Amino acid sequence: MTEKLAILDGVEACVFDAYGTLFNVHAAAARLKDEIGPDADRMSQVWRTKQLEYTWLRSLMHAYKPFWEVTQDGLDYAMETVGLAGNTTLRQKLLDIYFQLDAYPEVPEMLSALKAGGFKTAILSNGSKDMLDGAVTSAGLNSLLDGVHSVEDIGIFKPDPRIYQMSVDYLDLSGPDKVCFMSSNAWDAAAAAHFGFRVVWVNRFNQPQERLPGDPMATIQSLEPLPALLGC
Ligand code: LAC
Repeated sequence: MTEKLAILDGVEACVFDAYGTLFNVHAAAARLKDEIGPDADRMSQVWRTKQLEYTWLRSLMHAYKPFWEVTQDGLDYAMETVGLAGNTTLRQKLLDIYFQLDAYPEVPEMLSALKAGGFKTAILSNGSKDMLDGAVTSAGLNSLLDGVHSVEDIGIFKPDPRIYQMSVDYLDLSGPDKVCFMSSNAWDAAAAAHFGFRVVWVNRFNQPQERLPGDPMATIQSLEPLPALLGC
């Protein structure tokens, strides 16, 4: 059984990264594996990598555009990488699935337990509002969340500290230490800890820790043990 973690005492809100943490970003390519062919996994990995790289680069270039458009740029790069450029039917199918991505199976029960335990719950994501709304609605998570905070309100991507501050402000908290932040993205976990959140890294993919400032307080493999860590 997972024990309550004393270092998380005093937390008032649980804030979640969306893509990769609540929603499975590889679900689209997995569902269309047969149509994509033997490079489906590689295509999905390149898609995700490029999508993230473009957010970091666009932030540095002061050239923000919504994550839904950045996601399409990443997909176009990935499709060209595996020789599928120009397959507009497949491209549209992948985007349609991505807009309504599957939540990981433990997510609804985990959010219900946190809410029953008295915690505020929210998403803090690079995602644009339209795509977050699509994913949250199709996964049936609306009633389990107190807020869905999109970087769109500021016009820069994570890990800019102004993004993490948004959740402190929107949830009306006295400071970042009232937030327990969960991300499967090691760079996001590090940056959020560096900002001042208490962080639980959801290391779904067994990755090594980033060599960046900011240490998570705990590491779990899925979100299932989270309520117990918080004493729910
Ligand atoms: C997000 C990206 C980082 O949801 O996955 O913010």
